[in-house]
Amino acid sequence: LTGVPGFPLPTIHTQQAYAPDGDFTARWTRADALQIKAHSNPSVSAGQNSLPSQLIMPGIPADFPTINPDVWVWDTWTLIDKHADQFSYNGWEVIFCLTADKNAGYGFDDRHTHARIGFFYRRAGIRADQRPANGGWIYGGHLIPEGAQEQVFKGTAYTITAEWSGSMRLLDPRDNKVSLFYTDMAFNRDASGQDITPAQAVITQSLGQIHADFNHVWFTGFTTHTPLLRPDGVLYQNGAQNPYYNFRDPFTFEDPNHPGVNYMVFEGNTAGQRGVANCTAEDLGYRPNDPHAETVQQVLDSGAYYQKAAIGLAVAEDSSLSKWKFLTPLISANCVNDQTERPQMYIKNGKYYIFTISHRTTYAAGVDGPDGVYGFVGNGIRSDFQPMNYGSGLVLGNPTDLNQAAGTDYDANPLQNPRAFQSYSHYVMPGGLVESFIDTVENRRGGTLSPTVKLGIRADASAVDLRYGNGGLGGYGDIPANRADINVSAF
Ligand code: FRU
Repeated sequence: LTGVPGFPLPTIHTQQAYAPDGDFTARWTRADALQIKAHSNPSVSAGQNSLPSQLIMPGIPADFPTINPDVWVWDTWTLIDKHADQFSYNGWEVIFCLTADKNAGYGFDDRHTHARIGFFYRRAGIRADQRPANGGWIYGGHLIPEGAQEQVFKGTAYTITAEWSGSMRLLDPRDNKVSLFYTDMAFNRDASGQDITPAQAVITQSLGQIHADFNHVWFTGFTTHTPLLRPDGVLYQNGAQNPYYNFRDPFTFEDPNHPGVNYMVFEGNTAGQRGVANCTAEDLGYRPNDPHAETVQQVLDSGAYYQKAAIGLAVAEDSSLSKWKFLTPLISANCVNDQTERPQMYIKNGKYYIFTISHRTTYAAGVDGPDGVYGFVGNGIRSDFQPMNYGSGLVLGNPTDLNQAAGTDYDANPLQNPRAFQSYSHYVMPGGLVESFIDTVENRRGGTLSPTVKLGIRADASAVDLRYGNGGLGGYGDIPANRADINVSAF
């Protein structure tokens, strides 16, 4: 790797694999993340995209169609097996989405405390250009019977609960048993919406069954909710240490190198009391004598220590995936960024990629990058992960002008690119296809699925495939199965 004049060199990462139950945590360092700024054009005219185009999602047209008139839709996932292959069931493709009622009198920004997991389905095996413009998904309703997820919070104080992201495992493609892993949330808030006690986030399992006939898809079960993991304050930060802790978004998989063992990655934070100024030289990651290095004291003086994301790992202790044990975090981002969300393990050509989503506004002081997908590659599920693309970590950002203040999705900075919040919550699917939801395009709110895009992924580099779809944008909500269950029949 050669450096960019005026910027530090990225940290050297070997990609070496370590034992999954070992205690090595890779670092996404400040030296790494600064490569994003190093590759941003400081002199674009205000509101353009300043970032390398091969790492940027093409602009979504402002006249996008919506998936459904009655529900907001955001984080979305698919029906996967232990290898993250995406299955259709009995001739139907199925997706699971966080949803909120559009007609209940609250807006898209209030969705988080009203989130319910809903599902949609559509016939499998139809080309995107032969489907309706919005993807042709049929809304199937809520997955979990009303209130069933509240059993996890029995005996605790809360005022409202929500169902946050996770993943859906088809336990055996020869039958219809599915296991939902999701984040069960309980908030305890006063009338003005302030937390009385920190929100409770519990990674939870619930078992169900998928059914389909010629006309529709439906689910049974999801009545029993088993709490799997609460942050322990030792490996993962908890609410007593930081009322703004992040702990959610379970994704399970089997490692082909450890057959029969089930792992889970999830979003967390480095354990410890919030506000303790203790990032280290290793978190900064500068090479010896780099003339552009910051000192630890400079970084601590900037307040960057409030941002300490961690990508967590747990291992299943039984075959029914109902007992899990924390392992040491796979990646930390201390003094770099506070959120590494919806992490997933993507195994391709013997390489292990961790993809995760993050925000511009959760970066620590002095480091910057767009909303979107970040990626890290190593030789095993626990590795000295190399941040992809010139050592930066950026894989697929929204069009963003890093020279201008971020603004927000609900209150745009008029000088910022009007697509800086166009999409979020991306999930990388088989074949490098990436789905996400639309947040804000030219001040129009989305709450619907984005056009699918395609990444070319090779070693530690990636690029948006501009030959895919229309200038790089595929169908809205085009989320195809790459495998069929053995019940393929009916049609
Ligand atoms: C990402 C996310 C997830 C969480 C959900 C809550 O968009 O922050 O981490 O599960 O949204 O709405």
